[in-house]
Amino acid sequence: MPGDSHANRRKRSLYTEAVHAGERELKFADAITVPIVQTSTFTFKDCDTIQRYTSKQLARYEYGRYGTPTQTAVERKLAVLDGAEDCLLFDSGMGAITSTLLALLSKGDHVVLTDDVYGQTMRFATQHLPRFGVACTVVKMGDYQAMESAINKKTKLIFTESPTNPYLNIIDLERMREIRKRRGCLTIIDSTFATPLFQRPLEWDMDLVIHSATKYLAGHNDVLAGALLGTRHLVDQVRDYQRATGSVTDPHACYLLLRGIKTFPLRVKFQTNSAQIVAEHLEQHPEIRRVFYPGLPSHPQHEIAKAQMDGYGGVVSFWIKGDLARAKRFLDALRSIHIGPSLGGVETLITHPAMVTYYRITRKERYALGITDQLFRLALGVEDPMDLMEDLDQALAKSAK
Ligand SMILES: Cc1ncc(COP(=O)(O)O)c(C=O)c1O
Repeated sequence: MPGDSHANRRKRSLYTEAVHAGERELKFADAITVPIVQTSTFTFKDCDTIQRYTSKQLARYEYGRYGTPTQTAVERKLAVLDGAEDCLLFDSGMGAITSTLLALLSKGDHVVLTDDVYGQTMRFATQHLPRFGVACTVVKMGDYQAMESAINKKTKLIFTESPTNPYLNIIDLERMREIRKRRGCLTIIDSTFATPLFQRPLEWDMDLVIHSATKYLAGHNDVLAGALLGTRHLVDQVRDYQRATGSVTDPHACYLLLRGIKTFPLRVKFQTNSAQIVAEHLEQHPEIRRVFYPGLPSHPQHEIAKAQMDGYGGVVSFWIKGDLARAKRFLDALRSIHIGPSLGGVETLITHPAMVTYYRITRKERYALGITDQLFRLALGVEDPMDLMEDLDQALAKSAK
């Protein structure tokens, strides 16, 4: 909301802030919850009110595309959780990513992108940004020398993600901080897999953080949303762009997100604990070739994750033994684990990236990207991990024959 001078520095525990932060002054009739203000417009009672509003003496709402009270509550809450000065909500994670890039970039600018960012982010940066005269260089995740070499006079920003999908690679935030300081370009990080419970990139001097709030923050596989966090100066530039382009969140979706955020630390803590148990179990399983989870010492960036994160997240990827036919048998044999994309909700989901996300490209192209026939991504929900392991074990046993 314009003129909002909400104190963003986090003093209380994140668990407490997730429940309470951002809601003061937005409640109605002593209700404990913030209402769903389901409106597309806000009325002015007289000309004096209009004038006080347009001359910025009065902070208030005007039109749904410019914000609603339910949206403000979510934005204030997330700003506190991520330690940000400001937050802007979008109707999806991709809405946040594309709007941010389009708002901050102009013809002639150059972007550096790490190679395992979310598929649609990669697609947008490499296929759509060039149509607007923005060049993009993709560098290997973790190759900081390549990243620095890619930066040129026109480089406006670096876009990265951590942990990444599906191999849960971790960007070294300390090295990113050094590069940002040395080269002076904006750094944007998609922190969806980590959530503010486990990683707060603004504390590492990243300029902007993006979340697909569809995932852990909303947490119930029932709403799409995205969030951008950072300094008011930068977020305001994107806000101005959003006023013109839309991509705003409906008040009802805002409410579902607000409700989800209140329990997200509990869920994510549980999901992470389950992920660690399942990852350790699978690593010992004779039918599993390899497990990828940042909480395992075998993960290539385990030490980096340990140093900069407060937890490793609820996603585990693994290679099973055998060929594509065996992988299909395994998937079909699962009883309680749902097959589907996405992550972060209460239901455990498993996906076979080769069949689902990368079906358009050839096997050779897939393998070049590390998407093997044997690769699975398991996104833990909040079921008992013992039940999940039982399901995985019986499907591994059945599919081995
Ligand atoms: C890391 C990451 N960023 C962004 C997105 C896009 O978010 P949304 O689906 O909310 O548009 C996704 C979706 O899977 C994701 O995994």
